[in-house]
Amino acid sequence: IETALGNGPLRGRRVLVTSGPTHEPIDPVRYIANRSSGAQGTAIAGALAALGAQVIFVTGPSTVPPPDGVTVIRVETAQEMLAAVEQALPVEAAICAAAVADWRVTSASESKIKKTKSGLPVLEFAENPDILATLSQRAESRPRLVVGFAAETDDVIDNATAKRVRKGCDWIVANDVRPSTGIMGGTENAVTLITADGAEEWPRMGKHQVAELLAARIATVLT
Ligand code: CTP
Ligand code: CA
Repeated sequence: IETALGNGPLRGRRVLVTSGPTHEPIDPVRYIANRSSGAQGTAIAGALAALGAQVIFVTGPSTVPPPDGVTVIRVETAQEMLAAVEQALPVEAAICAAAVADWRVTSASESKIKKTKSGLPVLEFAENPDILATLSQRAESRPRLVVGFAAETDDVIDNATAKRVRKGCDWIVANDVRPSTGIMGGTENAVTLITADGAEEWPRMGKHQVAELLAARIATVLT
């Protein structure tokens, strides 16, 4: 295996993968989060490592263990994830598979919020930094290839195509995450790869297989 890794097409290439959800604290015992197992991001990191890449794996609290052979950086919040990502630069490619919480609670409480008879808590939110857009729009040390994900429930291709342009990334891996698809929390994925050249629909397959195909495609760009 050592030899196979050492001779892979991505040998020595530094790549970054974000994965999992972020948790945004409300108080010491509560948080808001996205629904994400981290399975697809973990599989992508593993597939890139298997091609010989030096993978920096920045992960939020995930239910699946990280792959072997990658550098694991564990974070909790979106702000921590952005800091870890910037710390990891420069990289040749960045794959943003994390389900980052769009908002954080502006004044997370240091102590546990108790139920009272006097009313319900009111939470105030602030928008989190967009890690994918920040990476894509960097003036200095922008990765050569920046890949984002778009998990959508409606108008998947149109939303994802607009997202690619808005964020300034090179590719978007779009998928339909309506509960009826069984993709969220499942082992399979049905994705459409959106590039500057258009949309390419891949058949439904295992998340590991999606990861292998994507890693192979990334290798064609970096080598
Ligand atoms: N993303 C990110 N940082 C954020 C939000 C999203 O890096 N604060 C990345 C995700 O990792 C993913 C891509 O952006 O690769 C798309 O995320 P998505 O939630 O679909 O996009 P949003 O711009 O947040 O739009 P929406 O309103 O649909 O949630
Ligand atoms: Ca979002």
